[in-house]
Amino acid sequence: MNAKKIYLRSFGCQMNDYDSARLIDLMGTHGYERTNEPNEADLIVVITCSIREKAQEKTFSDLGRIREIKKERPHVRVAVGGCVASQEGRRVVSRAPWVDVVFGPQTLHRLPQLLAERERTGRAQVDISFPEIEKFDHLPAPCAQGPTAFVSVMEGCSKYCSYCVVPYTRGTEISRPLMDVLVECAQLASQGVKEITLLGQNVNAYQGKGPDAKPVDFALLLEYVHDIPGIERIRYTTSHPKEFSDRLIEAYAKLPKLANHVHLPVQSGSDRVLAAMKRGYTHDWYLERIAKLRAVRPDISIATDFIVGFPGETEEDFNETMRLIEEVGFDASFSFVYSKRPGTPAASYADDTPQDVKLARLQHLQAVVDAKAAEISKSMLGRIERCLVFGPARKGGGMLSARTDNNRVVNFPADAACIGQMVNIRITDVFPHTLGGELVA
Ligand code: 5AD
Ligand code: SF4
Repeated sequence: MNAKKIYLRSFGCQMNDYDSARLIDLMGTHGYERTNEPNEADLIVVITCSIREKAQEKTFSDLGRIREIKKERPHVRVAVGGCVASQEGRRVVSRAPWVDVVFGPQTLHRLPQLLAERERTGRAQVDISFPEIEKFDHLPAPCAQGPTAFVSVMEGCSKYCSYCVVPYTRGTEISRPLMDVLVECAQLASQGVKEITLLGQNVNAYQGKGPDAKPVDFALLLEYVHDIPGIERIRYTTSHPKEFSDRLIEAYAKLPKLANHVHLPVQSGSDRVLAAMKRGYTHDWYLERIAKLRAVRPDISIATDFIVGFPGETEEDFNETMRLIEEVGFDASFSFVYSKRPGTPAASYADDTPQDVKLARLQHLQAVVDAKAAEISKSMLGRIERCLVFGPARKGGGMLSARTDNNRVVNFPADAACIGQMVNIRITDVFPHTLGGELVA
């Protein structure tokens, strides 16, 4: 029998990337083979993002292109998942009637049944319900793709920040049981995975069921993952400053496999704006968490997220954000101009800052963070870095590429046998976007 072909496109965050990978594994067990060519697909899946308006609009322009494919090849089935699907549900089909199936982040494991139902009834199928965490019980064991892998530990968010759609699209916080997470990590380690990134909208809110049915917190989860043979580096994303507990900070002292890098979204440095965002902490409180973390890991690299131009953000508020940037010395930031999301509380807040002022603030902020990142890169010259070799360098020439703890790519000459290994590399060159180095025995 000829395998059917699935073409999948994923937008947005790493949760979507994770869901996409698991969906490919699942559809593999239903006779689908992945293709990178939409024109030869029998099934086209789009995993969507609605965190900002631009991302949401991308979904519909993408669906427009898929319509053309379906005109040529009417047997093609089109399935839409992710956060736009979750938020819009049946409206996706009203706006794009050539869509066959709409599924949510918690129902992706039902795609095969939904497709079968579509064939049986001849009608589009929509299932965006939130059946607790059942999806994980219906997904096959993960298939490693190289030496790094993602493992979801919790889903959803119960923080309800005033600007954010996530609690509505992905539901409230729910943790996977400890054993499920550990088994998945161990399966990946046995396939040669060296670096695990624990995933969740708020990983440090983790409260999974432990061996004696008592909940286990994120710090303890890290200790268990740390003990899995073969795992050499642990990352996680994303965490919330409010739950960046003393116990989690102590884990940095105890667990050497924890990467010397953390992504801790702050969003703003103004207490007034933080309150309006309902973030639940202040400028000084964030600084205090960072100071405590640096007391145990003095050279840790810190990345963050900013929303610029939140409704009512004044020049003084923005200056408070710039002051925080100076104080922390962030190594990277994912920053965006505020985007109004329907159904969120902030959508009704008065917003009189002109868009060009917001854009100018964003550009200024990004320039300052980039300058700091360049400074940090320069300071790495001559240092020995623990790196995970992920493949041949793009430029070829017998060079390999590896990633440092602080997420920089280092190109260095070495035998291909190093691929997939953790190695020590001395940094010998600093370029604008990469580093150069040499292996240290
Ligand atoms: N507008 C702009 N950025 C947003 N984010 C979340 N919601 C919005 C919004 N409405 C950003 C936050 C978050 C990241 C994933 O996306 O910075 O940390
Ligand atoms: Fe959205 Fe806030 Fe939850 Fe992050 S913590 S997902 S910004 S509601």
